[in-house]
Amino acid sequence: MSRKPRKAVFPVAGLGTRFLPATKAVPKEMLTVVDKPVIQYAVEEAAEAGIDHFVFVTGRGKGAIEDHFDLAYELEATLKARGKTAEIELLKPSRPAAGAASFVRQQEPLGLGHAVWCARDIVGDEPFLLALPDMLIHGASGCFTQMMEVYERHGGNVIAVEEVPHEHVSRYGVVALNEKFDDRTHSITGMVEKPKREDAPSNLIISGRYILQPEIFAKLEILKPGAGGEIQLTDAMIELIAEQDFYSYRFEGTTYDCGDKIGFLSANVALALSRPDIASKFRPVAELLLKQ
Ligand code: UTP
Repeated sequence: MSRKPRKAVFPVAGLGTRFLPATKAVPKEMLTVVDKPVIQYAVEEAAEAGIDHFVFVTGRGKGAIEDHFDLAYELEATLKARGKTAEIELLKPSRPAAGAASFVRQQEPLGLGHAVWCARDIVGDEPFLLALPDMLIHGASGCFTQMMEVYERHGGNVIAVEEVPHEHVSRYGVVALNEKFDDRTHSITGMVEKPKREDAPSNLIISGRYILQPEIFAKLEILKPGAGGEIQLTDAMIELIAEQDFYSYRFEGTTYDCGDKIGFLSANVALALSRPDIASKFRPVAELLLKQ
């Protein structure tokens, strides 16, 4: 039986240049969607899937993330003294148990693959979850929870994918499929990063959620910089496909790329409209704005 992943890795060391000037002093992962930082959605998704250790790959200027996932001692003491129990409850999902959050520095932003490799000693010889926190996935059941079910059935490595129009494939990592297990799950025979439309093996793109075996670290270790001069995670996965099983899983849910302005704004509107506590007040405001 496959070992169950216990740890999740969150690379948060990128520069966030698409969100300047907001990201000059504030990490882009701390930008808020409605009332929670983007990173917290991914952490809660991993916690819902049974993860009990959260590994953040941070960089300079990312201290706010560390503070966010800590006990805010003075704040909680003040809220307690004022009897604000509902507000104290709101803080709980951002406070992992003592010792359940680790932070490791990626000293230079050398790419996603390099960021993942920086987590190797903390992850150790265990399968792990990897989330690109920019990708906010909204749905009835968490994407990682769905992926864990696939992992329990098949083991190996599981990659979340989603369909995009064929003309958009050249912006993403794209998977090549083989055997079909059900409508959502296939085995993967290959991957290609940012292919030309005519060279793309499918229109299923890699969507920022992975369950990976620890052998990926050895592949990352020997990689040379690829596209954009960065160490690419896709290149390491391509190497590992020759040795291990990879499965694609077309998850149920909607993805918002919060590293991009349109995706970020869409996430705010969509999540506000889905929140029972604010939707009824926000909907007429949004409708009025659209008429202007
Ligand atoms: P992105 O490429 O979307 O992030 O990486 P970025 O480089 O911060 O964004 P822009 O293009 O400059 O606006 C996806 C995720 O991988 C992390 C980022 O923090 C983000 O969560 N990342 C990326 C690292 O941790 N290290 C890197 O070297 C690159």
